[in-house]
Amino acid sequence: MKDQRVKEIIDYHEATKHHYDRYARSPGYMDWKNQPHPFRSYAGAPTLPLPLLKKDPPAAYQDLYDRKNNARQAVTVETIAGFLELSLGLSAWKAVSGSQWSLRINPSSGNLHPTEAHLILPPFNSNPSGVYHYNALGHVLERRADIPAELWQRIVSHFGAEGFLIGSSSIFWRESWKYGERAFRYCNHDAGHALACVSLSANLYGWKVTCLNGLSDAAIDAVLGFDQIRFRKLEEEHTDFLCFVHSAASNRIPRSLPDQIISEFANLPFIGEPDKLSQTCVDWEIIYQTARLSKKPATEEIAVKLENRKLSVSAPSPLSAADIIRNRRSATAFDRHGSVSRDRFLNMLDKTLPRSGCAPFDAELIEPATHLLLFVHNVVDSAPGLYFFLRTEKDFDEIKRFSRSDFLWKPVETEFPLYLLSEGNCRQQAMMVSCHQEIAGFGAFSLGMIAKFKDIITAEPYRYRHLFWETGMIGQVLYLEAEAHGLRGTGIGCFFDDAVHEIMGFNDNHYQSLYHFTVGKPIEDPRLTTRPPYHHLKNR
Ligand SMILES: Cc1cc2nc3c(=O)[nH]c(=O)nc-3n(C[C@H](O)[C@H](O)[C@H](O)COP(=O)(O)O)c2cc1C
Repeated sequence: MKDQRVKEIIDYHEATKHHYDRYARSPGYMDWKNQPHPFRSYAGAPTLPLPLLKKDPPAAYQDLYDRKNNARQAVTVETIAGFLELSLGLSAWKAVSGSQWSLRINPSSGNLHPTEAHLILPPFNSNPSGVYHYNALGHVLERRADIPAELWQRIVSHFGAEGFLIGSSSIFWRESWKYGERAFRYCNHDAGHALACVSLSANLYGWKVTCLNGLSDAAIDAVLGFDQIRFRKLEEEHTDFLCFVHSAASNRIPRSLPDQIISEFANLPFIGEPDKLSQTCVDWEIIYQTARLSKKPATEEIAVKLENRKLSVSAPSPLSAADIIRNRRSATAFDRHGSVSRDRFLNMLDKTLPRSGCAPFDAELIEPATHLLLFVHNVVDSAPGLYFFLRTEKDFDEIKRFSRSDFLWKPVETEFPLYLLSEGNCRQQAMMVSCHQEIAGFGAFSLGMIAKFKDIITAEPYRYRHLFWETGMIGQVLYLEAEAHGLRGTGIGCFFDDAVHEIMGFNDNHYQSLYHFTVGKPIEDPRLTTRPPYHHLKNR
């Protein structure tokens, strides 16, 4: 049974690889009249407009990640609103020749935004505790269920701490509308970006996000009331993760919920009809099949042990944490002469390392399993070439064994897990493997995220999604790091999978490249005009 699931998930992965001579199956054109609406609302659910931030949290650049300087804030309507505005809210509106579109704090493949957010909040202001959906367009909470005071108290006693819960779900159709079968991967990248966004934003309020990694997807469905919603076919929300947001100093936060609490949620009366997103939807069957096969069962709760390593501070940024979050954008073109100093480059990589006491990886989603294969083009005082950045030592011997025997594996710095594999100009190679996209070769560096694949999925098929989430989290850190250092990044979901594996010398799927990223000096598009994120909301 399990072997068959693993096989079918791996079959999906193989079927959705792009190759030089063949792209994964997709519509091949844009069906504009059926483009899914990027914002969901729950009609009939009472709405609670959230205040917009008048002043951003004061955290400095380093405090984006480091927890120790961020003072713990009370959970109020203002702090929840600020937390959401700086994690999943709008970041700007762009316009060109008569059309306009919104951008968000969290990026999304094709700006299609399959990720939805739901919150389980304590009583605040005059509201009793309840289950809410967050609609970023109006910056409003939609109240989908009331939670009896006594049930909320039991949640607090269970966690042994005050706080709230945030969950995410994906609407696959929003991505498959454009990208077809590969869209399941992109939805999961986006979920990972969103997880990093909430962890980093929570940190600015002195809160920590902890993944409830013991919960089954079925339990999350029950808690978020998805079992009771009559979703339109193919417009369903598919559960990603549920996290507890808290300020407990202890690492003993439970990573699950008792069955009794879950079944009480299942019996709450939920209200609100999800609105229609498209006139008609296309059933990319393999996506729904793979989603079923990679559903998470209840598992043992794990406290992921992270190293206690210091954050590198030698390349500070003059920007505040909130400015970096708000300014994040994807670059669409790079100045090919744009470089990054060696110090900044090393600092950017350093921030992708999982460490205790630092957002976002201390959300404890997964034992770190992803590394970076770097195409270094223009890093001052560094030879151009292929490099490898090892995010966890334990995979070192195995990766070396599976990769090309003529790689140098020459350490670049003492006590820093960056290795030179081979010297030489690799701009062309980087562009080619990233679907011929110039941004991969014209920047200062680009990279492929190499995840331990076969053994992890064979042991626990649901981790297929988690691996993509981990890469999305790394991507989010790289986006913010690029911004912090006066550069710009772009996530790259379009790449020729096996061409990357060939560069590494991989002959099988023990390790796979799951996501690409590029960083460089951006060239702005002068045709675009920009408007503030919430210019459309009056009096808030
Ligand atoms: C998972 C993922 C994959 C992406 N893939 C590509 C890509 O292959 N090429 C590209 O130019 N941009 C890519 N992007 C960038 C998106 O197009 C961009 O995030 C989106 O248009 C929203 O713009 P913003 O990031 O400036 O908010 C990707 C983004 C994500 C999150």
